[in-house]
Amino acid sequence: MEKDNYLPEKDHDHDPHLLNEHFIIHANRPRHMGTLSHANGYAKGVGICGDAIKVYLSISDRTITDIKHAPRGCTYTVACGSAMSHLAYGKTLEEALKITPEDVEKELNGLPEDHMHCASLVVNTLGEAIDNFYQKVWGNKKQAVVAITLKAS
Ligand code: FES
Repeated sequence: MEKDNYLPEKDHDHDPHLLNEHFIIHANRPRHMGTLSHANGYAKGVGICGDAIKVYLSISDRTITDIKHAPRGCTYTVACGSAMSHLAYGKTLEEALKITPEDVEKELNGLPEDHMHCASLVVNTLGEAIDNFYQKVWGNKKQAVVAITLKAS
């Protein structure tokens, strides 16, 4: 059975990049980590390296009122998930969709080039979770339209 709460399985303690204070804070005490039982937007992304992250959104009035991420992978994935969640929390959907991997990198005060894909993974998964929300809304609208059409005929 698949785990709901992912924990980092790999470590990069030898990497001098971990000396960056911003990175250490996000890596050691990740913000918004966990799952949301009442999520109305959800996606799971898998990176080119096999690392994965689940993103759970609670959206109300087109605003992300709660966000959780459940990473499974290296410390970079955990830190990027934390930074992305911190940036997306409280944002409107339009604002959240403008978050870039470079914004995540900036929040972490830098990322090594060979780990920029971790930032892309979390940002892409955020976008997919928002897309999942839109699909649900559009699905409901379609049903509502069908119901109104049937009523009118
Ligand atoms: Fe590949 Fe982090 S090392 S997503």
